[in-house]
Amino acid sequence: MSDIWAQLARHRAETANTPLLSLFDDADRFDAFSADSDDLLLDYSKTALDQTALSLLIALAKETGLPDHIDAMFRGERINATEGRAVLHTALRAPADQKILVDGVDVMPQVQDTLRRMEAFAGGLRSGATKTATGAAFTDVVNIGIGGSDLGPVMATLALAPYHDGPRCHFVSNVDGAHIADTLKDLDPETTLIVIASKTFTTTETMANAETALRWLRAALGDGATAHLAAVSSAQDKTAAFGIPPERVFGFADWVGGRYSMWGPVGLPILIAVGPDNFRALLSGAAAMDAHFQTAPLAQNLPVLLGLIGIWHNNICGYDSRAVLPYDQRLSRLPAYLQQLDMESNGKGVTLDGEPLTRHSGPVVWGEPGTNGQHAFYQLLHQGTRVVPAEFLIAAEGHEPELAHQHRMLVANCLAQSEALMRGRSPEEARQLAAERGFEGAELKRMTVHLTFPGNRPSVTIAYPRLTPFVLGQIIALFEHRVFTEGAIWGINSFDQWGVELGKELALSLMPILDGADPTGKDGSTRGLLAKLT
Ligand code: F6P
Repeated sequence: MSDIWAQLARHRAETANTPLLSLFDDADRFDAFSADSDDLLLDYSKTALDQTALSLLIALAKETGLPDHIDAMFRGERINATEGRAVLHTALRAPADQKILVDGVDVMPQVQDTLRRMEAFAGGLRSGATKTATGAAFTDVVNIGIGGSDLGPVMATLALAPYHDGPRCHFVSNVDGAHIADTLKDLDPETTLIVIASKTFTTTETMANAETALRWLRAALGDGATAHLAAVSSAQDKTAAFGIPPERVFGFADWVGGRYSMWGPVGLPILIAVGPDNFRALLSGAAAMDAHFQTAPLAQNLPVLLGLIGIWHNNICGYDSRAVLPYDQRLSRLPAYLQQLDMESNGKGVTLDGEPLTRHSGPVVWGEPGTNGQHAFYQLLHQGTRVVPAEFLIAAEGHEPELAHQHRMLVANCLAQSEALMRGRSPEEARQLAAERGFEGAELKRMTVHLTFPGNRPSVTIAYPRLTPFVLGQIIALFEHRVFTEGAIWGINSFDQWGVELGKELALSLMPILDGADPTGKDGSTRGLLAKLT
């Protein structure tokens, strides 16, 4: 074990009992333990990190070669070693005049060409120039995809609702027929475009939903259905076999991972919804964060800091999950998006060399928007036996000036929660409160315990002026690079996902049994459940 890990563990043991609030005896703590980049401020002063811990974590990042790993990714090296691929989702949002080489070939002309094609296609839908089979304008777009081919556009179209001036966008992901049935039931096939988004064009859920949608279109339009189809995929042979004209297929290279793909063709629904200027602003926000990640010193580098805080909480303090708490209703799908980004990337048990990890990798990521979560699971955050580091997101202002007073309530609640988690309520304060509420004697003693909050629960807050497309781009790229930072320090491959395969294979093996084949070979539980379900 590197000496730095041991030093961090020792330092934690020595300082674990220091109250977080006492760290603010240093009047400069907020300035020293916050950092910014363009529109984002990261406040991590309400964590137990002190200068010693921070210096050790930065030393750890250097020792594990983080700066070289960052360069290798942006240079287009095949850092996704188990799939033999480069990792260049950053190219999808890079400035047009930048050269990015993969095997000696500049990929940027192709990236820009695809973006222009997407813009032309989205433009036709938005203006009404692209006609339906019956010569009308498209009013609705249904994106059929799952995982990385769904969560980014779902999250971002919701986040950017105030900018939405194109056709209505709907999303179908689940193979549960309820999802597509509920979505299509209110739509008119004569004015609906179906976008089938699947990098591989083999994902069973997506293909089942695509077939259902095609039948729905054909029933109304016959051969005209083709005019209502488009695809986002790397498998152009398969999209052709499905009957989608090549000019309506938007492809991307294998160096874009599914969960990192919303910046390219997978982002087509976002572009259709908010238009090219806003989509490009989203890309610029992410590009700004890319530049920051590549150039800012480690101690001021937002993704690096967020990653190091993650390592501190997970590996040094032993906290096994983290809660993402956007005080921004339009970021309500951010936790789900981050679950895939983080847990599919860093939920790994072996290093890049195939050695078992000797410490924990990615934590459980979960969350809900505030203030709703306050009325649901915050009880556990404040008084439960587990400590869950919280990650708050909050804008200085909303998009509804007429509701500014509600936004002030939102801000007050967000700041109150991080303050309460840190400060807690001491037994003395709790006793006084119980007495004020009229408790006496044994009841007073009992209530004092229930009204006590342990406090010292860490949180970070990401603050921004307003949830604009640029800011959203920055936020998402920040989390992408945070995941990268943590993965690099653990020495794992954050860009493969072998762990999703076994369940897919077993589902395929169960299909014939659900159609009546003999379940021999299946375990007793599975057979018992099959008997109940068939
Ligand atoms: O099951 C996991 C996964 O492979 C994700 O990584 C991916 O985003 C998703 O399935 C969808 O894959 P596709 O875009 O190929 O349909």
